[in-house]
Amino acid sequence: MHKLSEFSLSMLEDPSCFALGRLAAHTNYTLLSNDICRTQMLDGEWLFRYTETPEQVDWAYVQPEYDCSTWDRIQVPGEIQLQGYSRPQYVNKMYPWDGIEEVKPPHIPKRSNPTAQYVTYFTWEPTDERCFLEFQGAESALALWINGHFIGYCEDSFTPAEFEITEYLQDGFNKIAVAVFRFSTGSWLEDQDFWRLSGLVRSVRLYTTPVSRIRDFYFIPHIQLDTSMADITVTIETENMTHADSIRCRLTDAHAQPIAEASCPAEPAVKLSMQAGTVELWSAEHPVLYRLYVEHMDAEGVVKQSLSHTVGFRVSEIRNGIWYVNGKRLVINGVNRHEFSCKNGRNISKDEMLWDVIQMKRHNINAVRTSHYPNQSWFYELCDQYGLYVMDETNLETHGTWEYNTASLETALPGSHPEWRDIAVDRVRSMFERDKNHPCVISWSLGNEAYGGENFRHMKQAIRDKDPVTPIHYEGVWHCPEFSDVTDVTSAMYLQPKQLEGLLTNTDDKPIVLCEYCHAMGNSCGGLDEYIQLTEQYERYQGGFIWDFIDQAFKINDDPDTSHLACGSDFGDVPTDYNFCVNGLVFGDRTLSPKMQLVKKCYQPIQAKWDGHTVQITNKLLFTNLDTFNLYFKVSQDGVLLSKTEARKLSLAPGCSTTVDVSDLLASPTCGETTVTLSFTLPEDTLWAEAGYELMSIQHTWGHWEPAPIQKGNIRVEDSNFNLGVYTDHVSFIFSHSYEGMISLRVDGRECLCGIPKPNFWRAPTDNDRGNKEPHRCAPWKAAGLYAKAPGFTHQIFKDCVRVTYAYNLALPNDPVCEVSYTVFEDGTLLVNQSLGALADLPEMPEFSWMARLDPSLHSLQWYGLGPDDTYEDTASGGMLGIYRSTVAESLKPYVFLQDSGNKCGVRWMRLTDDTGYGLQICSDLLLEISALEYDPHTLEAAYRPRFLPKSRETVLRVSSRKMGVGGDDSWGALIHPEYLIPSDQPQSLHFMIRPIVR
Ligand code: GAL
Repeated sequence: MHKLSEFSLSMLEDPSCFALGRLAAHTNYTLLSNDICRTQMLDGEWLFRYTETPEQVDWAYVQPEYDCSTWDRIQVPGEIQLQGYSRPQYVNKMYPWDGIEEVKPPHIPKRSNPTAQYVTYFTWEPTDERCFLEFQGAESALALWINGHFIGYCEDSFTPAEFEITEYLQDGFNKIAVAVFRFSTGSWLEDQDFWRLSGLVRSVRLYTTPVSRIRDFYFIPHIQLDTSMADITVTIETENMTHADSIRCRLTDAHAQPIAEASCPAEPAVKLSMQAGTVELWSAEHPVLYRLYVEHMDAEGVVKQSLSHTVGFRVSEIRNGIWYVNGKRLVINGVNRHEFSCKNGRNISKDEMLWDVIQMKRHNINAVRTSHYPNQSWFYELCDQYGLYVMDETNLETHGTWEYNTASLETALPGSHPEWRDIAVDRVRSMFERDKNHPCVISWSLGNEAYGGENFRHMKQAIRDKDPVTPIHYEGVWHCPEFSDVTDVTSAMYLQPKQLEGLLTNTDDKPIVLCEYCHAMGNSCGGLDEYIQLTEQYERYQGGFIWDFIDQAFKINDDPDTSHLACGSDFGDVPTDYNFCVNGLVFGDRTLSPKMQLVKKCYQPIQAKWDGHTVQITNKLLFTNLDTFNLYFKVSQDGVLLSKTEARKLSLAPGCSTTVDVSDLLASPTCGETTVTLSFTLPEDTLWAEAGYELMSIQHTWGHWEPAPIQKGNIRVEDSNFNLGVYTDHVSFIFSHSYEGMISLRVDGRECLCGIPKPNFWRAPTDNDRGNKEPHRCAPWKAAGLYAKAPGFTHQIFKDCVRVTYAYNLALPNDPVCEVSYTVFEDGTLLVNQSLGALADLPEMPEFSWMARLDPSLHSLQWYGLGPDDTYEDTASGGMLGIYRSTVAESLKPYVFLQDSGNKCGVRWMRLTDDTGYGLQICSDLLLEISALEYDPHTLEAAYRPRFLPKSRETVLRVSSRKMGVGGDDSWGALIHPEYLIPSDQPQSLHFMIRPIVR
């Protein structure tokens, strides 16, 4: 360890120098204030100067006499790149200097290393207390001076850097000078796939303690799961205490009632045991918390220092290859989460954290992986309090030092390199020591994508020295199996369901977890339900963490007309990985994407199997009887609610199944389609949702919705040279020979068309499509409809209807024909039939739809089908059958790169109306897939970004029999599962009716 009294820039490139002058990490206790123990947050405005490199810094600024008053002002905490200095840069696994400056570890870029110089002052009155200064997060390294004295230098952006500054203080004004470097040796270990930013990104805190003080404590419960009886050991480290001092521990319950107490004379290392009797266990379902007080008392029994921490009784352990929490097999319905604010980067506010936690609870998410670094302490407090299991991850990723399949221990960091051992171990220790008392932490993760090596064994050992039980996770050794002993769970990423199943049938004896799966980039997450089934089928598959929770997209500008969500390259940041930072279930501005509907449904902790009028329900909760919820039975007829029962209780113990018969609800003979919905709601307010919030629901349908029969009416045909007109009482149509389609559809004289309907086979490619090269593969289908031609039409006039048929030659080899026929009936109903024969040697068809350009006044949507949010064939399990309303404008979701959205599956009917209620109804005896957007797929595709879209002038209706799924196993090659594809070598057909809505 260095013992330099002066700062030197060589420290930035020295892997052995990462904690110079820094105090050992400790639990993030609450320090109860008294005369001696005072806390002062130093958050706020600091004086600031920026230089492009550390070499350009005038280091005299650290001296007390140096006048900084003319400097800029900056907010602490905050990222400097978001406050006007340097620029944010987004890269995934390449190092941010890749292609800019060739550097080899442990060296760092010389041409640009944004260096932030911060100064602030505080007043100090002489006392005999000790004073500590804590930086909760500084990206990526900081050096500290107090009144001109160099105090220390340290790395690791996401664990606290704490220094004792007592001996450098003076009466009155004291100067804190900090330098924060964007790059340091630590940057080699912080190659996470995120925005590359820097600065004092978390709070800064000053606090005082008596000279003799409690340094740290660790609450270790010993729980007998069969009786819920618990003993506790608290280990305490003290400094400067004598035998006259004593240490007291007190445990209180959630109502502040004393539960246990013990004390003993002070020693440097104290171990106190207490009996807590029968306790309530902590779990994500029942986050029961206690509070531990650890107090230092002097010879007179006066409390000099009182520290506290919320604690809980919970066991997370692996036995015989299965991971248990409190004795029950754990299933992780998890998400990965980056700390991200679309305004403030990783300087995320408490409100934003709370929003995240609340949304997770409301959507049945039970676990979070803090990908890929320890989060702010407040987040763990929320998880303790609200109930979320946490996989706490070390700030270690070196993805740019190795490649899949070609990786070697020679280049990979930290690998087995002795010079990178201590810096790696320090990171895991800093996380462990800070977070060890949080009951929410059920697993320690050694980092992400850093390959294998001896140094991971040292990291694991550092935890095991203190915590012999809590499962240790590390996925990196999936690629370096000779070190698989460093992980207690077999962890992998992005295995497809079939690959996962293959793994589950082998003989490994560890639990299996997908630390990342279901890549939620853009319109995605198709097939999530398949993974859930595997948790039910295989005991050893214990779930996974969806990648990931929130898009890392910055909100530029608040003005609704010009604001947009920015991704890599939008700041002129190159090299970049563009929009690969937006993989979230929620948009960057914390609005829900349609993927959350699917997650809520797939993660709901009940399983339902229907058989006739009975449903077998399994309660998948581990600790909660289903009678905790109110259960309502709702019966709908063709989407219209007929009845809803009073609240009932279904007593069903955790893990148990029961059969519920719904026949009595269906007693009256019905025609059409009957739907029964079992809805489980919260009977009373919780911290995260109000009473009545529906957390889980099951639905089943009998019978069929039938379109109303065609009525009598008057029909008149005008058969001219170029056009054929058909006139009924309310609706008229004109079919054109020259313009290859229907050119007019009027309802009571109002024109509904603003373009000629044609077959369509294309959708604006999704991120997953782009990732698996679907646009290249399926390109023929883009032109097929866009450039289709028809040599006029043929027509037949029948007694009560007229049929006009267009044979479109698709722009494909051999001009295959897609036939579209329009049959007009007396009541104005238009029956559309579209068919295409089987075609050889063509790629999968993105969709089979009839696309019409309608007047933009038709902008209100109402439909009976799945909803309320988007559904595609492989995300349809997230939807519920019902009658929903929306608008055409809302149907386009604000994905950062434009792509298809707004599809609705299982549509029986949809109404498109204008403000006066006039419009069209689309309906069929088929279950349709319909979208109505302000743009056609080609315009969306060409515009690429929402802000480049032209002003909309139409409502583009696409009615399909099938659209392919969206996929989601990953976004860099995984194909959509075969069952959700439309093979071109099978014939396709579609029929539906368009009916007028008149007032
Ligand atoms: C993983 C990685 C994540 C993220 C994801 C793709 O390999 O661990 O950080 O990059 O892929 O979005």
